[in-house]
Amino acid sequence: MSPLSISPRASITAVHGYLPPDLLTNAELARMVDTSDAWITERTGIKERHILKGEGLGTSHMAAEAVRGLLQKTGTKPGEIDLLICATTTPDLQFPSTANLICDMVGIREIGSFDVQAACSGFLYALTIAAQFIANGTARKIIVVGADKMSSIIDYTDRATCVLFGDGAGCVLLERGEGGFGIMDALIRSDGAGWIHLHQKAGGSRIPASKDSVDRRLHYVHQEGAAVYKFAIARMAEVAGEILKRNNLRGDMIDWLVPHQANKRIIESTAERMGLPMERVMVTIQKYGNTTNATIPLCLWDYEPKLKRGDRMLLAAFGGGFTWAGAYVQWSYDGATAPKLNGKGNGKGG
Ligand code: ACO
Repeated sequence: MSPLSISPRASITAVHGYLPPDLLTNAELARMVDTSDAWITERTGIKERHILKGEGLGTSHMAAEAVRGLLQKTGTKPGEIDLLICATTTPDLQFPSTANLICDMVGIREIGSFDVQAACSGFLYALTIAAQFIANGTARKIIVVGADKMSSIIDYTDRATCVLFGDGAGCVLLERGEGGFGIMDALIRSDGAGWIHLHQKAGGSRIPASKDSVDRRLHYVHQEGAAVYKFAIARMAEVAGEILKRNNLRGDMIDWLVPHQANKRIIESTAERMGLPMERVMVTIQKYGNTTNATIPLCLWDYEPKLKRGDRMLLAAFGGGFTWAGAYVQWSYDGATAPKLNGKGNGKGG
């Protein structure tokens, strides 16, 4: 695929997020499985993660909270939204889509809404799709949500996966860009042969849920960590390099690397290969863990107060599939003066 040269450009004009209030710390995990704060911190960079508790609450609950905040802080009415796309790997239901449910929960009626499934790269896939609707003029305001309740598919007796993931939701408002800023380029890639290393075995049409599938613990994330790590390191560097090359950029011209947060060592390796100091890399893994599709919008939300109009950003993600994706964005507004929720900070905090 060649660079996105479609004009007008789509631009992220606001960002919001939601993190459920309950925390799961490394110390608590060390009481549940044979692990330690030292191992988790050294091998992954994670210290704690947020977990959604409460009967009957699914991914849509967090996503709706994030979307409500986005609408409120930008003064946008639900009726102004033309399209809502939700990237998730943990939909509330097999069908209808979580995007449909979110629209209903926040009062957005009779627009197109659908889910995108590309594991941890899903948010960048959804952003790339949404950008085309802005560019071809069929939508003026689009909400792209990334949300996951990973705790619903994690085996909390498996120390190799249960320390890695957290729950959360993040969303952006996408509109026509002004001043030449916005999503300058994006690419999405996949290699289905990688499925064997990272997947959920049961609950789909191959192995529908049954007593046997539950007894054999087949509804949880199965990850061969070392194999996935090898591919993640290579593909994150590759996608960053390709985006830089085809936009005639060097690493030192990038203000912010916004990487998927699966492992601090993968993030550091990607930055190092780009020649980027860690001060210019968004890192939230220590407090959120890997929130799958929520990761990149939550990074943008976290760092929003520091962002300046014109900042050059490289977004990169890798996930199950395998899937990987990248985007080059020139940020469209000063985060410090962006609308705030209830006048407080960027409105963060559960
Ligand atoms: N505590 C203590 N020891 C542990 C833990 C733990 N929580 N987990 C694994 N170990 C042990 C293993 O059992 C193994 O022991 P052994 O040598 O006696 O067999 C040892 O630590 C090393 O295991 P590795 O799996 O090789 O550990 P590694 O250093 O690779 O770290 C990790 C594991 C963190 C999972 C890493 O491989 C990783 O980050 N992989 C990539 C994850 C990723 O990018 N996923 C994609 C996105 S997620 C998505 O798409 C849904």
